[in-house]
Amino acid sequence: MWFVVPYLLWQVAKATVRLMPVLWRNRTSVTLAALAVWLWHRHGWEVLALVAGVAGATVGVWWWQWRPWCERFVVLPALSWWQRLFVYQLHWREAMTVCRLAERFDGKLNVPRLLRVRCTYATDEVVLRMPRGQNPDDYHAAAANLAYSFGARICRVYSGRRDMPPTRRGRWAWLLRLVDRVRYRDRPRVVWLVFVRRDPLRRTVPAFDVPETTDLEALPLGLREDLVRYVLRLLATHVLIVGATRAGKGSVQWSLIRALAPAIRSGLVRLWGIDPKGGVELSLGRQLFSRYEYATVPPMVAMLEELVAVMRERQARMQGKTRAHTPTLDEPLYVLMVDEILALVALLQDVDLRTRAKAALAMLLTQGAGLGVLVVGATQDPRKEVVELRDFFPTRIALRLNEPNHVDLVLGQGSRARGALCDQLSARPSMRGIGYVVLDDRPEPERVRFAYVTDDEIRDMAVAYAAPEVVKPKPAPIPRQGRHTNKQKHTAGPLLPDSLAGLLDEDPA
Ligand SMILES: Nc1ncnc2c1ncn2[C@@H]1O[C@H](COP(=O)(O)OP(=O)(O)OP(=O)(O)O)[C@@H](O)[C@H]1O
Ligand SMILES: [Mg+2]
Repeated sequence: MWFVVPYLLWQVAKATVRLMPVLWRNRTSVTLAALAVWLWHRHGWEVLALVAGVAGATVGVWWWQWRPWCERFVVLPALSWWQRLFVYQLHWREAMTVCRLAERFDGKLNVPRLLRVRCTYATDEVVLRMPRGQNPDDYHAAAANLAYSFGARICRVYSGRRDMPPTRRGRWAWLLRLVDRVRYRDRPRVVWLVFVRRDPLRRTVPAFDVPETTDLEALPLGLREDLVRYVLRLLATHVLIVGATRAGKGSVQWSLIRALAPAIRSGLVRLWGIDPKGGVELSLGRQLFSRYEYATVPPMVAMLEELVAVMRERQARMQGKTRAHTPTLDEPLYVLMVDEILALVALLQDVDLRTRAKAALAMLLTQGAGLGVLVVGATQDPRKEVVELRDFFPTRIALRLNEPNHVDLVLGQGSRARGALCDQLSARPSMRGIGYVVLDDRPEPERVRFAYVTDDEIRDMAVAYAAPEVVKPKPAPIPRQGRHTNKQKHTAGPLLPDSLAGLLDEDPA
């Protein structure tokens, strides 16, 4: 019988080693349970009830007096603990198996490992490690099933951390930076699932205060689902905003203008506006625009060509000196805002004007970003003519769209599968201004509610941050572009790439 002893010892050691990580992951529950059992055993249930009552009262006072701290250190950790134990851990194995995310190997079922649950008031962030043989796309495909399995309507899947390492300052910054390097390291096998318990973007986001100075690298436009501000990096990018009628494109445009306002007043940014819908959208803030056209089409097209001329002049000045433009008062950043880009590139009846508009826009989009001439275009309909230009807009924002296939047309192939459900956004007036954006560092689109700038705020802003009077730039002579046909081959000069020269040679019919 003596040989059974080492075998038993071996089994006990193995079980202990396996139990350690489970105990560590559930350390709060284990500690609380052990404490409760000890109190009950040692002093009886009356003392246990007294301690529980005193703890409850302390939390109550804390909540009453210092609510944010209490939420951060007690309420949300307690909620996370509850959700982990009774929502996720309890049904984890079953849900993963029926959602086909458990892999069988060598007769053993490998279930994704639940690492952490962190709750906010609106969402549960569940971190898991994938078994071998999977990639985040498997979770994107199973997102809807996962959501309903755990009693939520929406589950978003992220293949990377959503937060960036904090900026560390002070004496121990070097140590904290070292810790962050480990905490924020790239972990390809880890996936973040965010279950939306209640929509954090239900309420209208009021307009942000006009900043002291404009940071062109981070213009605050709205709130993300994790209630972090969504900031746009405008330098060297064109922006395309697509949304069905009354989806709230105006709130994107005006939030952007609001963030630019100090730079507009100082002359660092020159805002040009084209409002083909008769000035309905942009005329409220007319004073903010250095140039503005809304009434008839020929001046709008002439304005586009004038901006091309400005860009060419700048290009000539920059040649051999620098490769990237930095905005200064002498060489400001030009931002051209076009409210309905479709009206210029598709709906125009006059073929000559349409061709000129397309050519000028194509020039601005292909060359302007590095030269400090940017285009912010909005449209209701991602139809062929817009999709042709889509790839020249590095930043795209999709609000509510009418068709599911429009999502991929605007944000790029596979965006809807990765969670951009623009066609499912509510058309209710109270839910306008919500859309999806693709952030630089992540393939998954982010849901954003753009800040709503009221008419009064626009009027006040237009008075307080009016653009300085500018001497109208003398346009460089542009070769007159007549009516182009296939027979009349267009020679656009070295600025226009071959892929776009075709736009000019389009058959007018
Ligand atoms: N961010 C927002 N938050 C709350 N409500 C909004 C928001 N944006 C827009 N709205 C509401 O929706 C209405 C329509 O918005 P807006 O004019 O911006 O839409 P649009 O997409 O520009 O429409 P159109 O295609 O007709 O130009 C606004 O009058 C406002 O009441
Ligand atoms: Mg509009």
